[in-house]
Amino acid sequence: MGGIECINMKRYKGILLAGGSGSRLFPLTQITSKQLLPVYDKPMIYYPLATLMLFGISEILIISTPKDTPNIKKLLGDGSRLGIKLSYKAQRRPNGIAEAFILGADFIGSDNVCLILGDNIFYMANQMDDFHKIIQKNKGAVICGYHVPDPERYGIIELDEKDRTLSIEEKPQNPKSNIAITGLYFYTPDVIEKAKTLKPSSRRELEITDLNRKYLNENRLNVLRMCRGTAWLDAGTPDSLMEAAQFVQLIGKRQGLKISCVEEIALNRGFIDDMQFCRLISRYKDNSDYKKYLSKIMEEKKRHA
Ligand code: TTP
Repeated sequence: MGGIECINMKRYKGILLAGGSGSRLFPLTQITSKQLLPVYDKPMIYYPLATLMLFGISEILIISTPKDTPNIKKLLGDGSRLGIKLSYKAQRRPNGIAEAFILGADFIGSDNVCLILGDNIFYMANQMDDFHKIIQKNKGAVICGYHVPDPERYGIIELDEKDRTLSIEEKPQNPKSNIAITGLYFYTPDVIEKAKTLKPSSRRELEITDLNRKYLNENRLNVLRMCRGTAWLDAGTPDSLMEAAQFVQLIGKRQGLKISCVEEIALNRGFIDDMQFCRLISRYKDNSDYKKYLSKIMEEKKRHA
């Protein structure tokens, strides 16, 4: 994501939802959490974490299963090494994406909140300004639409000619558009009360689409259309996991710049200073390409100072 501005003038906290059963990735997920599987050169969870950090969000609640939460905590700790604040909560069963707001009610308090799904990877070439504008104006919910070739697999948004939402449907048999709803959402604090009124669907989940429909019914649902230059990948199936890894590898090699490198983002966003960055990477083993990349960033920064 190549952002310029942080969108954090209006305060947003972040929730990273990294539970679920990962059944489509069986047997990869038999022992390991989906979000700890590798996507090329780093664990999957780094990607959504990086997206939140690029938005300037530094207070983040990570929700996962009771089994996987301790391992994610072992990986990321309290976030202080990256200059951010991470806290954790276990979701007892995969009761649906919208349960995140009930589990995270105390964490959200009276702040706005951005929810990102733990298996969603975003690479935004130049859309940070669009985000900045729509999110600062947000008086309800902002969801992000992405053009896909296979709309029957996703939550789908029907828009009028002025990009106003007419309807949203979960995995429709006869989709009204090709615009899928991605796993990145922004809400005002009343999302907690709205989530509490949801009833489980036929698959016994609190559905994010039902929650978004509540905002739509109140005329408070906004859609940000992600542009052609933006890539949205979800890594929830063997093929999409492989494709995501290939995408990250290709862009990284071509540009010599890593996608979703959380240490680099922490430095660029000012969450940590040069000294903290050097101290952090001094703990990494010298023989990894990751460490070499981070060392080069600091060398270049010093050269241009
Ligand atoms: P899904 O991909 O819809 O579900 P899943 O991860 O359980 O995978 P599968 O369908 O293969 O069984 O979930 C999207 C993201 O949301 C993923 O990062 C897991 C997370 N999630 C939760 O943390 N809790 C939940 O209750 C649900 C439904 C999803």
